[in-house]
Amino acid sequence: MKQALLFLGLSVLMGTIALFSLYGYDQNSTLHAAPVADAVTDTKTPFAEGCDKCHGHEPAYQEWRQAGHSHALVNLIEGPYELNTSCLSCHSAGYEIFSDRVYPGHTYNVKTAVNAVSCASCHSHTSKSEHLLVKPAKHLCVTCHKMDCGCAGAGIVHQSQSEMFLGREGAGVKRMPSPHVRAMKKRCVTCHMVKENPETVAQHGGHTFKAELSVCSTAGCHDSADNSMEVKLPQYRAEIEAKMQAVKTMLDATSNKTSQAYLDAKLNYDMVKGDSGYGLHNMPYANALLDYSLSLKSELE
Ligand code: HEC
Ligand code: HEC
Ligand code: HEC
Ligand code: HEC
Ligand code: HEC
Repeated sequence: MKQALLFLGLSVLMGTIALFSLYGYDQNSTLHAAPVADAVTDTKTPFAEGCDKCHGHEPAYQEWRQAGHSHALVNLIEGPYELNTSCLSCHSAGYEIFSDRVYPGHTYNVKTAVNAVSCASCHSHTSKSEHLLVKPAKHLCVTCHKMDCGCAGAGIVHQSQSEMFLGREGAGVKRMPSPHVRAMKKRCVTCHMVKENPETVAQHGGHTFKAELSVCSTAGCHDSADNSMEVKLPQYRAEIEAKMQAVKTMLDATSNKTSQAYLDAKLNYDMVKGDSGYGLHNMPYANALLDYSLSLKSELE
């Protein structure tokens, strides 16, 4: 009896210590999947994807947590635009997964949504592809990073990385794909996910999806001093920004804002602007778009 009591007492003590150390681990360790404040992880809802239960300690998860995709839902809800359910198709994993077609009577909408652009946006355990991707790398990013979201309202250019990279959809300019389209089989992934050490949590590349200019030389393409992108890019950027300013001044001074010439000139301007601000993903195309806009000057009054 005495022994049993002692055992019980010891067990309770051990249990308490274990609980406290677990709690401490949770609070302080970056390796543990601690709750993410804004990438909501409310496990009581049936919509939470719960990948962190098994993958929370992996570099992919840790990188994702710190980067833009994990804020996509919060930024959508707190953003300046009017919301509708279809915005979730690009801003929240769950819109497709819990669609009426698959999951009759679902209520996955801007009020009940809990996932950002999270693991299940791009991976599924039911996929047969490498890394369990839901789409080949080549087609993955362009499903969301495209200009016509068909939702934000007619004429609003939300994002244009895909169109700029592929060199299309602009007004008055022939197709002009970036040379990188042919050179890079995995397209966006090639620059945005390259990572030196797969075992560690990266600050660039991997699941931060942040591209770094150093990627231009690691592939042996832009490595000589005068060909270096660190030198060239600021020059390109200055050139594009000057042209954008000229187009903007021209657009602002126009009184008839419904003419085709105005709409074409503005579309090209918005495309360059919608691509990381200055047409970085296809400089020759960005230049051609802005040149065409400027050529319309005589038609605008
Ligand atoms: C399901 C839709 C979706 C897919 C697929 C997607 N993105 Fe995104 N991406 C978004 C949204 C939405 C944001 C905006 C997040 C925010 O609110 O800051 C974003 C933001 C980004 C950013 C800016 C990140 C930052 O830290 O500010 C980069 C870079 C990016 N995505 C690259 C990629 C790449 C590369 C791929 C393909 C591997 C990809 N995305 C696939 C929807 C998507
Ligand atoms: C086709 C996919 C897609 C759809 C649909 C979509 N978005 Fe986005 N959205 C994106 C991507 C991609 C980004 C990230 C852009 C970047 O970081 O360059 C983004 C960024 C944003 C941002 C943060 C950056 C900014 O532009 O201020 C807000 C706010 C936003 N979207 C609102 C909305 C709203 C509101 C809707 C619905 C009316 C919507 N989005 C529908 C793809 C989409
Ligand atoms: C926007 C799309 C996207 C999201 C979101 C995403 N992944 Fe990935 N993931 C990819 C792509 C693309 C690859 C393949 C990269 C390559 O081919 O180089 C990949 C590869 C991986 C790999 C194998 C290679 C590696 O980096 O270890 C793991 C594991 C992984 N992802 C886990 C996750 C987890 C866990 C999450 C959620 C935190 C997540 N991914 C979110 C696109 C995504
Ligand atoms: C019950 C545990 C568990 C859960 C929950 C879970 N996974 Fe996994 N996952 C595994 C195991 C085990 C493997 C195979 C081991 C490995 O390759 O690391 C794996 C492999 C993967 C891979 C392949 C990694 C590679 O190296 O190519 C991806 C991607 C992935 N899971 C994504 C997800 C996503 C997305 C979710 C949430 C929707 C999820 N997993 C939920 C256990 C889990
Ligand atoms: C040749 C390499 C390369 C390719 C290919 C590429 N990008 Fe980028 N991307 C970059 C660089 C470099 C930046 C600028 C990063 C910075 O400013 O820190 C960038 C910026 C971005 C941004 C803005 C990031 C931010 O923080 O606001 C988004 C979004 C983006 N790219 C998406 C894409 C998508 C989608 C594709 C495929 C259609 C793609 N990129 C293809 C190199 C590339």
